[in-house]
Amino acid sequence: MQNMPQRVPSLKQGKMDLYWAYENMQIIDQIIKRYKSKDTLEGYSIGICLHITKETAVLILGLQQLGAEIFICPANPLSTQEHIVSLLKEKGIKVYREKGKTIQSFFKNMDMVLDNKPNIIVDDGGEFHKRALQKNYKIFGGTEETSSGVNRLNAWYKKKIIKYPIIAVNQSRTKNLFDNRYGTGQSTIDGILRTTGILLAGKRIIVCGYGWVGKGIANNAKGLGAKVIVTEIDPVNALEAFMDGFEVKPISDTTSFGDVYITCTGQLRVIRQEHIKNMKNGVILCNAGHFDVEIDMDYLNSEDNHPTTIRKNLKCYKINKKNIYLLAEGRVINLVGGDGNSPEIMALSFANQLLSIIHISNNCNKLEPKVYSVPKKIENEIGVLALKSFNIQIDNITKEQESYFYS
Ligand SMILES: NC(=O)c1ccc[n+]([C@@H]2O[C@H](COP(=O)([O-])OP(=O)(O)OC[C@H]3O[C@@H](n4cnc5c(N)ncnc54)[C@H](O)[C@@H]3O)[C@@H](O)[C@H]2O)c1
Repeated sequence: MQNMPQRVPSLKQGKMDLYWAYENMQIIDQIIKRYKSKDTLEGYSIGICLHITKETAVLILGLQQLGAEIFICPANPLSTQEHIVSLLKEKGIKVYREKGKTIQSFFKNMDMVLDNKPNIIVDDGGEFHKRALQKNYKIFGGTEETSSGVNRLNAWYKKKIIKYPIIAVNQSRTKNLFDNRYGTGQSTIDGILRTTGILLAGKRIIVCGYGWVGKGIANNAKGLGAKVIVTEIDPVNALEAFMDGFEVKPISDTTSFGDVYITCTGQLRVIRQEHIKNMKNGVILCNAGHFDVEIDMDYLNSEDNHPTTIRKNLKCYKINKKNIYLLAEGRVINLVGGDGNSPEIMALSFANQLLSIIHISNNCNKLEPKVYSVPKKIENEIGVLALKSFNIQIDNITKEQESYFYS
């Protein structure tokens, strides 16, 4: 019995995972070293709502080293890595993680973080900002990690309810070109494979949405031999998918042959009752978009569909005498079924977070209550640091080229 492998990863495993993430996130370490001696974030308290992973731990412990006090809650009820929670608690980080995975406990965690009155707000999805915007204490600013959150913030700005400056980290090229495309593209396929173990070669995979995430998923699936079909509502993105070599069809034209459906649109009910009823026996449905709204869960969970759990994160519904499989309750499959994005990718995303947070702390008196892009200087700085970490050199513009270009 003594040699039985542990089922729940231990605190020791948390430390090993943190070491592994650090090894592959050197950019964060370089930024911390540059700002550490200046006590850059001394006196700031940061409320964070992000997926609790080993990569997030690197960001959080870095912010702590810069002098900030941190309060954190999970950005998704199912994505938390428990051994990382233990590790963060051991390092003195206040983690709010009510037992239970209900939507009520998810919101309660956010409220408990906000009870500490953090003056910088870091979110992934917009829900945490939504609650912070209703508070009456001084917030210096915030950041937003993902596409869905940025869409919501832009809508709130038009409605004039943004009360503090928020930097849209997702809009940085050093975030979406890499995290959404290469990171989520790879980790979504990884999450599907870890959950089901199926072979992708020869499968007909329907990717719903050809934005940054969709492009990454489609290309990764193609690389493993799948036949990829894209569904879109945007004519230009649809054209791009076509010219990238994918078939493009309305979703209802795919239901007779689709083997695996992956949603990544940020939209509501992309896969609906009328589609599911016509799908073939054995079809697999999953989602990589931020919220669990892209697959019609209300319909799937209606009483007549008799869900059975086959294995962790894999459920079977009986619909019209056919087996319809759902992964990870329709939540982000890459984080629920896998470990999320790789550390090299999260180093880029979190370098944007880190430098944006420092930018807010240095400029909070000058910034207005609106949604800002990540400053170009920060974007480029991260590009330079990343190239250096991969040991890649590039050319410099000559004086002659400079005057030609700008004349
Ligand atoms: N799982 C992760 O780790 C992770 C990482 C990054 C982003 N995200 C999330 O993934 C989602 C997509 O992000 P993105 O950066 O690709 O956004 P994006 O805006 O670049 O792309 C979304 C695409 O979906 C298309 N679309 C919208 N409604 C559609 C519908 N009904 N049918 C088909 N296509 C439709 C849009 O036209 C657009 O091309 C967002 O919810 C984002 O927050 C998740």
